[in-house]
Amino acid sequence: MATITPRETLDRALREVAGAASLDRLEEVRLRYLGRKGEVTASLRGVSTLAPEERPRVGQAWNEVRHGLTEALEARRSELEREDAGPRDDAFDPTLPGRRPAWGVPHVLMRTLERMVEIFRELGFDVADGPEVETPRYNFEALNIPEGHPTRDEHDSFFLGPELLLRTQMSPVQIHVMEAMPPPVRVVSPGRVYRRDNFDASHSPFFFQMEGLEVGEDVTLGDLKGVLHTFVRRFFEEELDIRFRGSYFPFTEPSLELDISCTVCGGRGCPVCKRTGWVEILGCGMVHPNVLRGVGYDPDKVSGYAFGAGPDRLTLLRHRIPDIRHLYENDVRFLRQFQGSS
Ligand code: DAH
Repeated sequence: MATITPRETLDRALREVAGAASLDRLEEVRLRYLGRKGEVTASLRGVSTLAPEERPRVGQAWNEVRHGLTEALEARRSELEREDAGPRDDAFDPTLPGRRPAWGVPHVLMRTLERMVEIFRELGFDVADGPEVETPRYNFEALNIPEGHPTRDEHDSFFLGPELLLRTQMSPVQIHVMEAMPPPVRVVSPGRVYRRDNFDASHSPFFFQMEGLEVGEDVTLGDLKGVLHTFVRRFFEEELDIRFRGSYFPFTEPSLELDISCTVCGGRGCPVCKRTGWVEILGCGMVHPNVLRGVGYDPDKVSGYAFGAGPDRLTLLRHRIPDIRHLYENDVRFLRQFQGSS
């Protein structure tokens, strides 16, 4: 009978160690060879029955098998333990920082509108709405802009039909409001307007306006200035210089424009303010008697002021954004900057 040599036993045992796919299997291999009744243990025990001159050689050979196998078992054990310690589905580490969800936030322009509405609400204004598709009567005639009036050319309009156009300004809402209710009125109306302009750094074929209107007994130009100055202070949250300049709008008399000192350069002069140090933010004035009369109000009994502000421009100035196109391109990298601000 051919005896099994220590070498053969070791080779076989090492193959089994390498093939053990779990810690339990590995333990089985260990017991089979090194356990109390294991093959190697038995062979070592058998050494004492050998002839005395055989004992050292055979004993050493089986001891080497035991060492080699023990080392291999150890190495395989740590390997299996490492695999076992990998992430598990139920592993939950409450000390890890959370993963931030990608919140959507209102667009920076919408936040400007909300801010503006909020400020005017605090000053006692209601919010009024009107249609985006208008007739020429509401967009022009009722606002004292008869056919052939030169300012119609400035409002290069999108006509949808001979008697329908996309509103070019928010002022028609004045007419809707006054037709619907008797004085006193105090409203603002934010909304989108459309003009046949091309996109460039300061123009867009659609943009926002916020119209304001107050009509009642003894409403004066002083009230208008007070309300607008308060608005500017609250909106920008910094002390800016303002100035009213004489201007012309068909539906107001007198007409004014409100400038603020340029927020970008602090009034020293830069491309945004065209080196003047001033930026215009709205048009305003006392409501023209023709407009009051047209809606059935009596200009001898009531008076009022109106204003039309540009939320786009106000957004650019407040956040020092150099180009209006950023507001309409929906580039998420741009929009993300405003996640925290109001
Ligand atoms: N509707 C004017 C425009 O689009 C802006 C405006 C100016 C509105 C003066 C007003 C106002 O109410 O009084 O250019």
